[in-house]
Amino acid sequence: MIEQEDRKDDDFRLSCAVSEDLEDAISHGILVSNLAFRLSEMLGKSRDFCYEMAVAGMLHDVGKLRLSEYLYGRKQGTLAIEEMKYMRMHPKLGYEILKASGDYSQLIIESVYHHHENYNGSGYPDNLKEEQIPYGARILRVCDVFAALVSNRPYRKAFDKDTAIRMMIEEVRHFDMRMFLSFMQMAYDKEFEKTEKFIRDANHKNVFAFAPLSEQELKELIPGTGTVFA
Ligand SMILES: [Fe+2]
Repeated sequence: MIEQEDRKDDDFRLSCAVSEDLEDAISHGILVSNLAFRLSEMLGKSRDFCYEMAVAGMLHDVGKLRLSEYLYGRKQGTLAIEEMKYMRMHPKLGYEILKASGDYSQLIIESVYHHHENYNGSGYPDNLKEEQIPYGARILRVCDVFAALVSNRPYRKAFDKDTAIRMMIEEVRHFDMRMFLSFMQMAYDKEFEKTEKFIRDANHKNVFAFAPLSEQELKELIPGTGTVFA
C-alpha cells in the first residue's frame, strides 16, 4: 500500500515541480523538515544534528528540479515505467546538486541520497537494508512517508493522523523500528499540535496566505523592472 502511495506520490510531486503547484512541494519540504528536526530530538541527538536534519528534510527532493524539463507540461496521470526509472534518479540528482554546492555536510548529503531506502532492502537507489542505510536517511524515510500520507493529493484526500500511523504500522518493515516507535510517541505528544495545525493549514492552502505581488509592489521592490510590464 505504502509502495503504491510512494509511486503515486513521486508522480504527484514531480508534477508539482513542473506545474503551478509549487506551494505543495514547498509545504511538503517544510513539514518533512519540521518532523525530521523533532524526531532527531526525540532520538536524543545533538542540537547541531537536529538542525542538519531540518536542512536535509527541506532539501530531500531537490533532485526533482533536474527532472522537471524531461517531463515538462505533465500535469497528472501515472508515469510510464520508463519515466519511473528517471523519477527514481531524483535522490542521486539531489546528492549531486548538494555535493556540487560544497555547502552541505556529509550527514545532509547522504541522508538525501538514501531517503527512499527501505529498512527491509526494498527501496532505492542502492537497495540498502537495516543499518547499512545511513541514520539520517532512516529518519527522513519515516518523516517523508508520514508527511505524504497526511497531505491532500490530486488522486485522494489526506489521511488523518491515526489512519496514517495505522498504514505505517502495516508496512513497518520499511522503517527502523526504533525510529518508528519514537515517531509514534512524538505524534501523540501535546507538542505535536503545532505540527498538526501546519498540516491542516497546508491542506487548506492557508500556509502561504499572501496575495501575489502587484505590479506596483514589484516595481518598488526591484527598481528598473517597470519595462517588463511595458
Ligand atoms: Fe523523494
